[in-house]
Amino acid sequence: MSAEGRQIVVLADAEEIAHRAAERLITRVGQTANGAAVCLTGGSSPERLYRLLATEHYRSRVPWERVHWFIGDERFVAGSDPLSNFGMARRCLLDVLGTPARTLHPVPTSAATPDEAALLYEAELKQFYGAERLERARPMFALVLMGLGSDGHTASLFPNSPAVEERQRWVVGVEHAGLAPFVPRVTLTLPPLASTREMLFLVSGEQKRGILARALSGDDLPATRAHSNGDLVWLVDRAARGA
Ligand code: 6PG
Repeated sequence: MSAEGRQIVVLADAEEIAHRAAERLITRVGQTANGAAVCLTGGSSPERLYRLLATEHYRSRVPWERVHWFIGDERFVAGSDPLSNFGMARRCLLDVLGTPARTLHPVPTSAATPDEAALLYEAELKQFYGAERLERARPMFALVLMGLGSDGHTASLFPNSPAVEERQRWVVGVEHAGLAPFVPRVTLTLPPLASTREMLFLVSGEQKRGILARALSGDDLPATRAHSNGDLVWLVDRAARGA
């Protein structure tokens, strides 16, 4: 199934989504000779994928020490806080792989404010990318993972928030989250998220059925504004699709 360049793949369940996503991640990382960057996502949907990638079957297939790990959005809490998105990725995957510290790029939530953390993270992204401006022909990421919130948000781009419209800044602070957990956030904006060979949405569970139907019918939501300069793939399960 495909709409506006978006490929929609309906799979049996969350487990199958995790397996398919793992294969796609490994393929994309393998296509980038040196220093592939992966932009992870938070929330509960990717946990299964992260745990799967940490299993022997996947661990042994990739030169993980060459992969750089970023996060599309972060809750403004300490890295050790159970709410931390990067913290979850560390516990489920990165610490298990023994990932070298130089390849880990968490949002610096020890900064004084979300805006300050956003500025620091933007500088880190620019340093990694090696330029101040994004070039369409030279994507920053091999893969960007995304989730779909029940209000249509993705990353921490909530409906009707200025962050959705931002075109200059790569990263912004978000004082008020539109959904729980109600802690300030730091989020990449749409242009750097689009700078990828592939953007991969993971959407599972019956509770996503209503918002997924809206997204697939083309409603104007942050998640449907999210686009990719490479491929755009939505992996959805039957419970979410209602199929
Ligand atoms: C966050 C996320 C957020 C998430 C969606 C889906 O920090 O909350 O990055 O954008 O991807 O809310 O979350 P679930 O996977 O928990 O449904």
